[in-house]
Formats: sequence, structure tokens, C-alpha cells
Amino acid sequence: MRAPRSLAAALACAALLCGCPGDPETKVVDATAVDHGAALFRDPSIAETRFNRYSCSTCHEAVAGDAGDAMLPGAPLAGAVERPHYWGGQEVELLGAINHCLYYFMTKDLPWTADDDAAQAIYAYLESLPSDGGAAEAVPFTPVYELSQIPAGDAAAGGRIHERACASCHGRVHSGEGRLVPRAPALPDQTLEEHPLGEYTEADRRLVFIEKVRHGGFVGYGGQMPPFSREVLSDEELGDLLSFYGLPWPP
Ligand code: HEC
Ligand code: HEC
Repeated sequence: MRAPRSLAAALACAALLCGCPGDPETKVVDATAVDHGAALFRDPSIAETRFNRYSCSTCHEAVAGDAGDAMLPGAPLAGAVERPHYWGGQEVELLGAINHCLYYFMTKDLPWTADDDAAQAIYAYLESLPSDGGAAEAVPFTPVYELSQIPAGDAAAGGRIHERACASCHGRVHSGEGRLVPRAPALPDQTLEEHPLGEYTEADRRLVFIEKVRHGGFVGYGGQMPPFSREVLSDEELGDLLSFYGLPWPP
């Protein structure tokens, strides 16, 4: 179901705010709420902290296929305003779903309220995206809580997956060149250095990669990396990645 009343309210209100002189967030006076939302979608300063490097578009396509063959951890957001629930059923409110991203990944201090002009502009933008072709249906999201070893896969395929899923934040393999987040280690070298053999077994070192990819900043791990669900990255593909990183199997 579409929500024309709240959209109209959001549009009117955000359009008004766009016209407010002196509002530092809305320099483009004649931008519509949708345009304003589209710009915010790609703007890391939306989190209002200099520690954040991500924009929404780091992890989400607006419309499926937007980011070519990138494997992004978040779902495409076209149709999101109409979905029955979010985060694999763990969240029922759209605003709540967005606030999780702002808090856990983008380290924003305070959650958005429905009155925030940024929230309204993002809402107007999401509302404007096409919601046909099943985009309004709940997106399956199966986090993996219980970890187990994943066998070796195809290293060449893993190289491709690194480019599509990991390089946006971690940069190039080994060197980390071009990384978005200074804290994100160069893979796999820096992570292996931080988990030296002796202190860690080869099996432990494999699990460090598996755990980080599956839990991201959750389940006790901490940090700002998003988790990759089984729908985004299968165990087989994770096995390909581990082989590409040269982790021995059997460990
Ligand atoms: C660092 C990565 C990351 C960033 C940045 C991020 N998200 Fe997310 N987002 C996720 C992940 C992972 C999920 C959970 C998987 C899912 O349901 O899409 C999620 C879930 C969501 C959902 C629920 C989607 C659904 O149908 O289940 C919405 C809506 C959303 N994010 C909006 C946003 C918006 C708007 C921004 C920018 C303000 C943002 N996210 C920034 C990673 C991110
Ligand atoms: C949206 C950005 C982002 C993406 C995409 C991403 N990471 Fe990360 N990753 C980080 C950040 C930031 C850190 C530093 C620790 C933290 O803040 O979570 C990190 C840390 C790690 C670590 C170090 C864990 C440790 O304990 O030392 C590993 C391993 C890792 N990432 C693997 C991957 C792999 C493999 C992929 C691709 C499947 C990937 N990451 C995709 C942001 C990202």
C-alpha cells in the first residue's frame, strides 16, 4: 500500500525546509524534497559526524541493478516504504530500520524522528522510487549466528567477489589501496598480522574472516562493518574468498 497522505505531508514539509534560508543542510533553495533526498542518499555528512565515511549508497542500491554487479550488504531500497517489515522481520518501522543503519554503521549519535527534515527528504526520495516487480515485498535477510568452518573454494572466483563485495571499503587486496574507511584493514594481510600464528591457529584465523563477514558489527564483534547475509553472500562464495586470501585448507 502506498501512503499518499504521509508522502504529501513529507513533501510539503521538506519542500518548505528546503526553502529555509540559512539552513546549512539545504543549500539548494529550489530543490524538491525528492532531489534533496536523492542527494542525502549519497552524502556521508547525513550522519553528522566526521568519523563516518559511509553514505546510504555505500551499502544500498536505490533501485536493484543501480550499482552494476556490486554485492551490497543492504537491500535495494526501491519499494521499501511499502514493505511489511524490515531487517528480515526484526523491525517493523521504516524509520526504525533506517535508524539502525545510522546508529550502528554511520555512528550517528541521535536517531532521526519523523519530524527531521533529512528523514522526510529520504522518505520522499524512497517513495519516489519504482516499487514494481516485487520490490515492495519483504527482503529475505538471513544472518548467520552460529559459525562453522567453510571449506576452500575457487580462488579466482574469490578475487571477483572481493572486488564486488569488499573492495569498496577495504580497497585492493594486499595493499588496501583506494579504501574508503581508514580503519578497514588491508585484506588479508593486515588482519593476518593482527592474528599471528602461535597466538591463533590456522583454523582460528579462518574463523576471524568468517565471523566478521557474517556478524559485521553485531553478536559481540563491534565496529562499523555491516554483516553479509546468506542471501547476499553464500557460504560457497565465502569459501571462494578465503581461498583467494590464501588461507590454507584444511587449516
Ligand atoms: C554500512 C552499510 C549500511 C549503510 C551505510 C546503511 N545501511 Fe541500511 N542496511 C544495511 C544492512 C546490512 C541492512 C540489513 C539488511 C537489509 O534488510 O537490507 C540494512 C537495512 C536497511 C533497511 C531495511 C531494508 C529491508 O527491506 O529490510 C532500510 C530501509 C535501510 N537500511 C535504509 C538505509 C538508509 C536510508 C541509509 C542511509 C541513511 C542506510 N540504510 C545506510 C546496511 C547499511
Ligand atoms: C561498508 C564497508 C565494509 C565492507 C563492504 C566490508 N567491510 Fe570488512 N571491515 C570494515 C571496517 C570499517 C572494518 C574495521 C573494523 C570495524 O569497524 O568493523 C572491517 C574489518 C574487517 C576484517 C577484520 C576483522 C578483525 O577482527 O580484524 C575483516 C577480516 C573484514 N573486514 C573482511 C571483509 C570482507 C571479506 C568483506 C567482503 C565480503 C568486507 N570485509 C566488506 C568495513 C567493511
